[in-house]
Amino acid sequence: MADVIDLGEFGAGFRRDPHRVYARLRERGPVHRVRLPEPDAHHETWLVVGHEEARAALADPRLSKDGSRIGVVFLDEQLIGKYLLVADPPQHTRLRALVSRAFTPRRVEELRPRIQQITDELLDAMLPRGRADLVESFAYPLPLTVICELLGVPELDRAEFRKLTTEAVAPTSEDSEHDAFVRLAGYLTELIEDKRCAGPSSDLLSDLIRTTAEDGDRLSPGELRGMAFILLIAGFETTVNLIANGIHALLTHPDQLAALRADMTLLDGAVEEMLRYEGPVENATFRYAAEPLEIGGTPIGQGEAVMIGLAAADRDAARYPDPARFDIHRDTRAHLAFGHGIHYCLGAPLARLEARAAIRTLLDRAPALTLDGPPGEWLPGMLMRGMRSLPVRW
Ligand code: HEM
Repeated sequence: MADVIDLGEFGAGFRRDPHRVYARLRERGPVHRVRLPEPDAHHETWLVVGHEEARAALADPRLSKDGSRIGVVFLDEQLIGKYLLVADPPQHTRLRALVSRAFTPRRVEELRPRIQQITDELLDAMLPRGRADLVESFAYPLPLTVICELLGVPELDRAEFRKLTTEAVAPTSEDSEHDAFVRLAGYLTELIEDKRCAGPSSDLLSDLIRTTAEDGDRLSPGELRGMAFILLIAGFETTVNLIANGIHALLTHPDQLAALRADMTLLDGAVEEMLRYEGPVENATFRYAAEPLEIGGTPIGQGEAVMIGLAAADRDAARYPDPARFDIHRDTRAHLAFGHGIHYCLGAPLARLEARAAIRTLLDRAPALTLDGPPGEWLPGMLMRGMRSLPVRW
């Protein structure tokens, strides 16, 4: 049996800078047996940290996401319902087909004017103040407003919703995680019921409620709640952190910020580098070996959990020279910030559009933007990479 590395032993420093730990692991090999830090300290898993191995594992059909195949019950699935990230083909294929047409680059492009308008309005409110927490005033409300409008989530519910979703993706304790999922399930059930009663409307959730695919397929009530859950959560908890982590990277690398300000045609490449360097999803969601297999020469037993390190893989020197350097000119191709394979992020075109609009407009309208103190605490847990706050002035 492989040695178990207790990630909890790295203490609070691991959350502040997990990259140092991942770099040490990569030096020793591409796959490790680890014990997770709090609040999941009882949980052991395999952790893949090499880029080539991570990319291959993300596309490996022997690594299942469907708990029923290996006898695992997922808390979120149990409380909310089946959704894309806990399903294998053919169920995954069917669910994804029902929703993917809403997220094609062409459909997303139609949202551009509204995204720009929301961005401008948020900055109109923020900029006269001279200083702000960028997360609270800008990075959070932008993607939250976009996804709520897209799905048809009413305005009044958003503050409450935000507390629940952050706790669901970055729980501070097991109890609060459970509580967040119970409340989210209740919230989503009510939301869907209200929409059903309200009658025809053009938002995506209403569309999913009445959707009948060409073969007459429909979402079951659990699948509908699961779809609303994943779209809402994945639709903004991630993009918030791309905007905030990206701006943080620029403000802590003045040469890169100056290069971007001097030539804004570099923006698209800069956003890709932000995704590679400090992407919002630190580790992919768990996969489980449906049969015995090897990853990077390490044998994985049937039923064992595998965590694929996206942040670790994206700083693998075998793929990206001098990987800890933030360099907006670099070739970032094949970064894994949006995953890979059949679960590749459905919302990648939307996330890119929002982040580019947000960063371009912010830099344009705040030419003297700078840090106004250290960032807040980094989120707990190993799923998300993001700061609770980012004080800036201009
Ligand atoms: C910067 C922002 C984003 C990042 C970094 C990101 C990252 C990811 C990653 C890494 C996965 C795969 C997880 C895994 O394989 O375990 C994923 C899946 C997914 N993402 Fe995103 N995401 C972002 C924004 C969005 C947005 C805006 C939406 C929707 C509106 C979205 C919807 C989804 C969905 C539905 C899945 C599941 C796909 C499937 O299982 O087939 N994401 N995302």
